[in-house]
Amino acid sequence: MTLTNDDLAKRCAVAERIARRAGEMLSTERRAMGQVPFEVKGQNDIVTRMDRASEDFIVAELHRAFPEDDILAEEDGLRRYGGLGRWIIDPIDGTENYVRGFPHYAVSIGFEEEEGQPVAGVVYCPPTNEMFTASRGRGAFLNGEPIRVSRRSEPAQAVSVVSPPFRMHEFADEYYELYKRVFYQTCDVRNTGSAALHTCYVAAGMAEGHFEKGVHSFDIAAGLAIVTEAGGKWSSLYGEGHPYDRHEILLTNGLLHEWYARLAREVRAEFSARRKDG
Ligand code: IPD
Repeated sequence: MTLTNDDLAKRCAVAERIARRAGEMLSTERRAMGQVPFEVKGQNDIVTRMDRASEDFIVAELHRAFPEDDILAEEDGLRRYGGLGRWIIDPIDGTENYVRGFPHYAVSIGFEEEEGQPVAGVVYCPPTNEMFTASRGRGAFLNGEPIRVSRRSEPAQAVSVVSPPFRMHEFADEYYELYKRVFYQTCDVRNTGSAALHTCYVAAGMAEGHFEKGVHSFDIAAGLAIVTEAGGKWSSLYGEGHPYDRHEILLTNGLLHEWYARLAREVRAEFSARRKDG
């Protein structure tokens, strides 16, 4: 069975309500806790009690509304229910920001009918009360107002939103070489610490490009749907392949996509030549 655009719009509306309630829970608890205790999951990777509480709430609510949809969530993995599609959930994208009190963390809920092709998504940032939403054929929105990617086509006019590979230090040298080249040829580079928000900032025309090595589907699924509906483009960092397979992403306003991808390929080629020589 194929889902219609109406089915997807309904999913988006339900996900929006759930994300807002999860976000309210996160900010209320954040204020009450003062210091936020956390556990270490891996290298530079932490989880809080509120990641789990937010995820449990979102999973239960989505399952109640759409019992046949599968659900993939950051902390608990995949639950299969018969599969009209799957939800992909990040209960707090930017957990480090949440713990430290930086105002850039988000609840991210994407929906895919076909694996790897997000067709609806919501990203909610509680501290700024920004709600980004989109579903196939219906456009992308920020707090109910339509958004579009920027029309800037000159690298010299571009701002990029990026995160370094802070959990995969083996990629740092190559990444920072790319960062340096982008930096010198564009206006500026920013990092807020939330990949989900970075994808939405490109969708809303606030930045032209987002690139990262070390992302996961739950960080970006919703953002991929949102930027697609806003007229943007996404691929692996080098312009070929899917971001989930390689855990890396290039997401742009479309006009500058090939420019970023070409630069990334150039740097990759130089680094692989150096590895061979060395
Ligand atoms: C992380 C943040 C970070 C990005 C990582 C994500 P998390 O999310 O979005 O900015 O660079 O790729 O994993 O781990 O806090 O959910």
